[in-house]
Amino acid sequence: MTRAQVLEVIGSDRDEQATAALIDFDRLPRHVAIIMDGNGRWAKSRFLPRLEGHRAGVESVRSVVETAARLGLEALTVYAFSTENWKRPTDEVSGLMGLLKLYIRRELRTLQDNNIRFGVVGGLDGLPKDVQDELRRGIAETSQMTGLKFSLALNYSGRSELTDVVRRIAVAAKAGTIDPETIDEALIERHLFTAHLPEPDLLIRTSGEMRVSNFLLWQIAYAEIWVTDVLWPDFRRRHLLQAIVDFQKRERRYGGITSATGKA
Ligand code: IPE
Ligand code: IPE
Ligand code: MG
Repeated sequence: MTRAQVLEVIGSDRDEQATAALIDFDRLPRHVAIIMDGNGRWAKSRFLPRLEGHRAGVESVRSVVETAARLGLEALTVYAFSTENWKRPTDEVSGLMGLLKLYIRRELRTLQDNNIRFGVVGGLDGLPKDVQDELRRGIAETSQMTGLKFSLALNYSGRSELTDVVRRIAVAAKAGTIDPETIDEALIERHLFTAHLPEPDLLIRTSGEMRVSNFLLWQIAYAEIWVTDVLWPDFRRRHLLQAIVDFQKRERRYGGITSATGKA
């Protein structure tokens, strides 16, 4: 990219420009997945209720979505609520659901203006009806967008997704529409929530935790993992740019011995 292009994508912050200048725009990750973590700790360190951490985290989502769209990434998927997160206190869960509704309501216009196609990865039907309605509206009203595919992973876990895939394939096999002998990786992939997305090249986790917490278990088989101590509410454009710079220094081998590019 030329300096002028960098400026156009990144804006006027000098540190961000310097980081962006290190990015090879021909080898961008196609799909970035993020485990957003640390909202509770961020709030605790400020003597605030956990929900304030989630509220602040919405700003980070906004910043990252905008940056991903400007960079021209194909897909961005962020883990917002796991099937295990139902175990949290009811006021935290309902607070999170309220934030979700608010997010779609406030951001829909911006998503459309930026040609972003919104989607949900996970059990949409298991969410409260009013939240479902809002999400479905977001999905429908951005369905014609051709830019960044931005998905929220909601009521999602990798194990429940794979269990569901196995069940559906078994039902089809029993009905005779799938021959068990023909079951292969491609068929399984077509049954995943992410069937329409390339597999993640880069998996980011915030708040220093070195685990995948049941996120996209099948899909991240060869993702490069990037962990930062930054808590999610503090995560901004410059962190995403740095993650991409670091990603491009990795040697992806997919089990072979020669270096492969970041492209799938
Ligand atoms: C991530 O932050 C947001 C969700 C899982 C919904 P946490 O709420 O897990 O924050 P910590 O890990 O307790 O700091
Ligand atoms: C992972 O964060 C899930 C989401 C980001 C939605 P958690 O905070 O729920 O994961 P653990 O409990 O640290 O593994
Ligand atoms: Mg957490």
